[in-house]
Amino acid sequence: MEKHRLLITLFGATGDLAARKLYLAIYRLYKNNYISEHFALIGTARRPWTDDYLREVVLNSIKDEIDDQAHAEEFASHFYYQSHDVNDVDEYHNLQELALELEEMYQTKGNRIFYISLSPSLFPIITQHIKGSGLATEQGYNRLIIEKPFGNDLNSANELQEQLQVSFEENEIYRIDHYLGKGFVKSLLNLRFSNIMLKSIWNKENIDHVQITLAEEVGVEDRGDYYENSGVSKDMIQNHALQMLSLVAMNEPKDDEPESIRQEKIHILKNLHQYDSVAELQENVVRGQYGASESNEYKAYRDEDKVDAESTTETYFAAKVLIDLPEWEGTPFFIRSGKRLNGKYTTIHVQFKATKEGVPGNRLMIEINPDLAYRLYLNQETIGYTNELKQIELSYSPDEKEINAMPADYERLILACIQGNLNNFNHWLEVAHDWKFVDNIQRLWKEAPKPDFPNYPAMSSGPKAADDLINKQGFDWFD
Ligand SMILES: NC(=O)c1ccc[n+]([C@@H]2O[C@H](COP(=O)([O-])OP(=O)(O)OC[C@H]3O[C@@H](n4cnc5c(N)ncnc54)[C@H](OP(=O)(O)O)[C@@H]3O)[C@@H](O)[C@H]2O)c1
Repeated sequence: MEKHRLLITLFGATGDLAARKLYLAIYRLYKNNYISEHFALIGTARRPWTDDYLREVVLNSIKDEIDDQAHAEEFASHFYYQSHDVNDVDEYHNLQELALELEEMYQTKGNRIFYISLSPSLFPIITQHIKGSGLATEQGYNRLIIEKPFGNDLNSANELQEQLQVSFEENEIYRIDHYLGKGFVKSLLNLRFSNIMLKSIWNKENIDHVQITLAEEVGVEDRGDYYENSGVSKDMIQNHALQMLSLVAMNEPKDDEPESIRQEKIHILKNLHQYDSVAELQENVVRGQYGASESNEYKAYRDEDKVDAESTTETYFAAKVLIDLPEWEGTPFFIRSGKRLNGKYTTIHVQFKATKEGVPGNRLMIEINPDLAYRLYLNQETIGYTNELKQIELSYSPDEKEINAMPADYERLILACIQGNLNNFNHWLEVAHDWKFVDNIQRLWKEAPKPDFPNYPAMSSGPKAADDLINKQGFDWFD
């Protein structure tokens, strides 16, 4: 196996994401020998931590996965800390000095990954100084990993993109959407295009509609201030839901190159039908906000910390989305996501048309979270003295051994970046088209009458209007 040589500089090393996900992901890569002696990480943030303290934090983050303490400590010894306020220009020169020293020590061949895990408002200042202070290498590669959200609307995303472009080429920018690192999202293309049975019927002639659901049981927790400016349409729909839609709808790429795959996704996102009036929006999009649960055990969104008592922020979104392309003419894609729903799951259902009246259409269910499964629902004659039909299920779920061997989202994505594989990262144009779709909805919501919130109790299945939306298609929502 190829052992990669690289230096990671992690901005936001004292943050929540680093402690909960990133150190563990990097440790797994170390345990699996993708990185080893020729790897080092510089963690930076403002807090005055030391190398030793960072190493303690790292060891604590990975403690549940350590099976060889000495090996884990050896891993942690590759971590260095430099206190740094990203607004302070001089500090970048200190970072560069440390980087050069570590490159020499670990023989990392000048390969540098800059992982920015802090507030998006700070992305441009960092990238500008990475270039300006000579922190970008001239020997190996420079790759930039950035966290979501990429802007708050198309305008701010555009501005951010312009600022990043000054310092990094598009093919050096790895925009993270961790849903694209999930095993059964990543494998969607193989499922679709490596099976003639699916490939040949995956079209408007045979598919009645598609349902994509990202349901959460949790409320806004302590993120009320962030959520007030985001709502579910920006938090989940603009990125994860539309990304999954593009993977379900895209044409087969001409090869496995990131450019080919991303171009096909862009083609779908660029042609999402834009609702052109409030009436069309109301016909096709449902927004909701949770009230207290019927038992009163869970409070209403408006009573959450840091949330306006009159808030009109949506915690639920469901939409019938059409794609203005001949190949998908008349095939709706229903997407929905919400907080404080009565289940936590991410699923895709592809509902095929019926072969004749009175016979249910076949359905393929892809379970992405928390369980992993493919379930295919077929019609089968009931065994006995009748020729009535019943629905049977053919299913596959990975076993425990397979699940344990499966990389976690961040592990998969960081490895892909190390390997220079952009397949599962968003191209700028994907982000831009996602924003265009959501911005249009936000604009029409402003023109529409004020929503009558709350309109669903916490821990329920969501607003009644969302059921009506799918019922018009002749179906119910599938979990
Ligand atoms: N947490 C998650 O589960 C999650 C999930 C998806 C995406 N994200 C995204 O990941 C990014 C980080 O999230 P997080 O939850 O880790 O945030 P966080 O816990 O608030 O951490 C922010 C980090 O930024 C550092 N920082 C803030 N201002 C700084 C400055 N001027 N100079 C240098 N460092 C500074 C903080 O350290 P100091 O205070 O020590 O400076 C801290 O390390 C965000 O873009 C977020 O949207 C997070």
